[in-house]
Amino acid sequence: MHVLIVCLGNICRSPIAEGVLKDKLGNVSPPIVIDSAGLISYHVGEAPDHRAIEIASRYGIDISGLRARQITRDDFLKFNLMLAMDRSIYEDLKGMQQKLSKASIELFLEYAGYPPGSEVPDPYYGNMKQFDECFRLIQEASEKIVKRMLESVGLK
Ligand code: 4NP
Repeated sequence: MHVLIVCLGNICRSPIAEGVLKDKLGNVSPPIVIDSAGLISYHVGEAPDHRAIEIASRYGIDISGLRARQITRDDFLKFNLMLAMDRSIYEDLKGMQQKLSKASIELFLEYAGYPPGSEVPDPYYGNMKQFDECFRLIQEASEKIVKRMLESVGLK
């Protein structure tokens, strides 16, 4: 199972989700591969936003080594599940999806069982309070996402 978490810049929401999901999953066999990417190229090669690094570290998760990248056409062939952080990202991914792609595209929070259309708000223009809320929402949803992933690969 290959899962790509997608947000806009790949410096706030999706690297937080990548760090949290990897931390919760640990090493499982068969492996569940978690990666993240952004729709825009603006922050490619950058570490996560310093506020995202700070909030994750307060909760014991180190995301400082992650580097932003932009989603590619190949990602639609490589990943079988893409989780979009908000509806706008979801619509863009649907628009980019090609015929050959087998990737299933879902909203991150919907995959976790939240009501249809639920979004992880973008904290980029906010302050630490928004980053804390963002982190806690992702952390809570990730409990359910990990459970569902383990079930889908037959581990639970
Ligand atoms: P993210 O947050 O999509 O959660 O990484 C953002 C990061 C950068 C920008 C917007 C949102 N930006 O416009 O540069």
